[in-house]
Amino acid sequence: TSNRMWGGRFAEGPDAIMEAINASIGFDQRLAAQDITGSRAHAAMLAACGIISDSDAQAIREGLLTVLSEIEAGRFSFSTALEDIHMNVEARLKELIGEPAGRLHTARSRNDQVATDFRLWVRDQCDAAITGLEALQRALVAQAEAGADWVMPGFTHLQTAQPVTWGHHMMAYVEMFGRDAARMRDARARMNESPLGAAALAGTSFPIDREMTAQALGFDRPMANSLDAVSDRDFALEFLSSATICAMHLSRLAEELVIWSSAQFRFVALSDRFSTGSSIMPQKKNPDAAELIRAKVGRILGAQVGLTMVMKGLPLAYSKDMQEDKEQVFDAADSLMLALAAMTGMVSDMTANRTALEAAAGSGFSTATDLADWLVRALGLPFREAHHVTGALVRMAETQGCDLHELELGQMQSVHSGITADVYDVLGVHNSVASRISYGGTAPVRVREQVARWKGLLG
Ligand code: ARG
Repeated sequence: TSNRMWGGRFAEGPDAIMEAINASIGFDQRLAAQDITGSRAHAAMLAACGIISDSDAQAIREGLLTVLSEIEAGRFSFSTALEDIHMNVEARLKELIGEPAGRLHTARSRNDQVATDFRLWVRDQCDAAITGLEALQRALVAQAEAGADWVMPGFTHLQTAQPVTWGHHMMAYVEMFGRDAARMRDARARMNESPLGAAALAGTSFPIDREMTAQALGFDRPMANSLDAVSDRDFALEFLSSATICAMHLSRLAEELVIWSSAQFRFVALSDRFSTGSSIMPQKKNPDAAELIRAKVGRILGAQVGLTMVMKGLPLAYSKDMQEDKEQVFDAADSLMLALAAMTGMVSDMTANRTALEAAAGSGFSTATDLADWLVRALGLPFREAHHVTGALVRMAETQGCDLHELELGQMQSVHSGITADVYDVLGVHNSVASRISYGGTAPVRVREQVARWKGLLG
């Protein structure tokens, strides 16, 4: 039997293997809503431009809504023989309304159709990512506000560096996720042009109005070059690269939660709702959600690399290779949204262990820099000499197995005779963080300013 879709040219139908490699309906049915929205806008435009009759457009537009409701209700039977979502929808429309259905595809190709559908879908994902990021930021800001003046160790090389505040650490992620949201906004703004009306590749001789469909679909304008419109997928790649960076940030926070929730750190307790147990070890409470979030960046970057490789070296305009754009983007978007939701849940639910944070903040000679700074300020030592004196005091404390504030004044003076009892003021972790009031610093007063700023921005 001849092909149902383009029987005119073909005497025989496709081989089963041809059908299997060619069909995309198994996954592109996720574009159904976008496909129908795009087709409805196209039909209205065709009628407004006098290319089809108003009554045909009316029948098409209503019929398409019926098709959508069938799909949404799960009452639609997708056919592999009809290849993709575009042909499945049109074939069903034909069954429903008859002859006018055949007029919908005037001045259009599946090439501009799929480019339009996919742009609309990715645009929605940018919006969803922004919403998800803002929810996560709110959860982090709430943690920061509650613990704006709680002290904890700040690390470099995962070695104790200087005391910081819990609020400051939480707000660092708020900044990162803020840039991730901004990247999504940028990508969205750049992709928001309409490919519809580019037709197969060269435009069309029908008197279409591309401004009208662009506007109906919420695009800022039609794309200026029909070849470009049907042959690029940079908009999806931009979404994927923004998603990759975001997933990398999520991965770092996830890693911290894994470390912090361990018995060795005890900085945070994760809620039961976001933890799992062990089938053999009764005591276990595992941070599985954090681990899975930590892993997601792998598949999201994988999608970015995969689609880049699909697009690399493709001659203009459309090639069927480009059908391979969708699954990876779908998977990456699903992974990102789930990771954002899980991280938001974990951060909202987690309890910081203020006592453990404070105990850890003072260990590891974390106020050694404060001591060196004091030697500069109080005694007028050059910083390099102060660094050396402090190093000698740290070595002395280490040998004695005590902290810096536990050294006696006489012992300190044996290293530098000018040291006075005032020095003990700067050796406390609370004084240490309170003193770091430079813009962007860890002092509670600065953290509270940033909390207020972000609360204003996030509404
Ligand atoms: N299913 C196709 C895709 O996803 C639609 C475009 C088909 N165009 C074509 N010239 N065969 O890319």
